Amino acid sequence: MATVTYDQATRVYPGADTPAVDKLDIEIEDGEFLVLVGPSGCGKSTSLRMLAGLEDVNEGNIRIGDRDVTHLPPKDRDIAMVFQNYALYPHMSVADNMGFALKIAGVPKTEIRAKVEDAAKILDLTDYLGRKPKALSGGQRQRVAMGRAIVREPQVFLMDEPLSNLDAKLRVQTRTQIAGLQRRLGITTVYVTHDQVEAMTMGDRVAVLKDGLLQQVDTPRHMYDRPANLFVAGFIGSPAMNLVEVPITDGGVKFGNSVVPVERDALATAADKGDTTVTVGVRPEHFDLVNGEGTGGAKTLSKDEHAGLAVTVNVVEELGADGYIYGTAEISGDSRDVVVRVSGRNVPEKGSTVHVVPRGGETHVFSTSSGERLSD
Ligand SMILES: Nc1ncnc2c1ncn2[C@@H]1O[C@H](COP(=O)(O)OP(=O)(O)OP(=O)(O)O)[C@@H](O)[C@H]1O
Ligand SMILES: [Mg+2]
Repeated sequence: MATVTYDQATRVYPGADTPAVDKLDIEIEDGEFLVLVGPSGCGKSTSLRMLAGLEDVNEGNIRIGDRDVTHLPPKDRDIAMVFQNYALYPHMSVADNMGFALKIAGVPKTEIRAKVEDAAKILDLTDYLGRKPKALSGGQRQRVAMGRAIVREPQVFLMDEPLSNLDAKLRVQTRTQIAGLQRRLGITTVYVTHDQVEAMTMGDRVAVLKDGLLQQVDTPRHMYDRPANLFVAGFIGSPAMNLVEVPITDGGVKFGNSVVPVERDALATAADKGDTTVTVGVRPEHFDLVNGEGTGGAKTLSKDEHAGLAVTVNVVEELGADGYIYGTAEISGDSRDVVVRVSGRNVPEKGSTVHVVPRGGETHVFSTSSGERLSD
């Protein structure tokens, strides 16, 4: 087992103007499950392949434990990689597929057999050891690919979208199995996905990449509660955080009819940049309906009735426990899309208007110009 360190690691593909991975700095702990996530083309696979030794590192270093592996060939790095397409040998049985790397390494047959049987037990593949890959389901093939990595008892597992060939239900099951297995084996793992839900549910920590640049590396909880910039705020969470550009007013920002208080320091930082607006983020579950609107009961009209932000309900999504309303609101003279989570018991009707206020302490403030987080 070992730590993994990306130290200013950079990859520029021949002929490219910009690096595919730009000065990547991450320290992965021994036994940690780190997920690399980001949109297509952001450099996830390149980062993984640099660690595997399948891609040159043009600047910086990569270390596994105390070993500088930057220029070592893949076979000397003590890693095992699971690819998206599994890459099983079709003419070999499951057992031979799983033991192949050990056979190449000259491990005695009886030892290989014992290791393969152990791994098969862990992965629930004992009954399939004699079969060829084509006679397996997608999920079983995926487990064989895992088994092939496990028998090698590497210092580090690398996985590049290993679940993307599975259907939605199997993907959810398998991600729990992989995360559980990794925890039991305690092998440091770097896992690539473009799916933020997968990242948030599997990772001890999550690293978000965009255009080859690391945006934030954090625990799922902290990433969700304190996104470091506008990109992470919009990328992590589903439905996405509402992000609206609003003018700065005295002591806060104007959000529809309400003034959202914002820390002085944050406003001062924005003003220092010459910004007259900031971008406020509110997650769908952090809006409260004014006066219990949408609860279906008789409404008491009060002077606060029209406080908050008026949202016209366009679409209602009922998910049982929760509901989401997709609506539009007039904010600073523009019509904006707004998503609000409501109780599934009483969802407002399509076409109605509800008034919402952001819950105190649950708003995020970002610089509109740089995207960086301004609030605490
Ligand atoms: N062999 C290559 N030669 C030149 N450019 C490449 C090569 N492989 C990848 N790239 C470029 O490097 C960037 C990062 O690619 P990479 O495959 O790492 O992205 P990714 O995050 O894994 O995307 P995806 O989610 O689509 O798999 C992209 O702009 C891509 O076009
Ligand atoms: Mg990729």
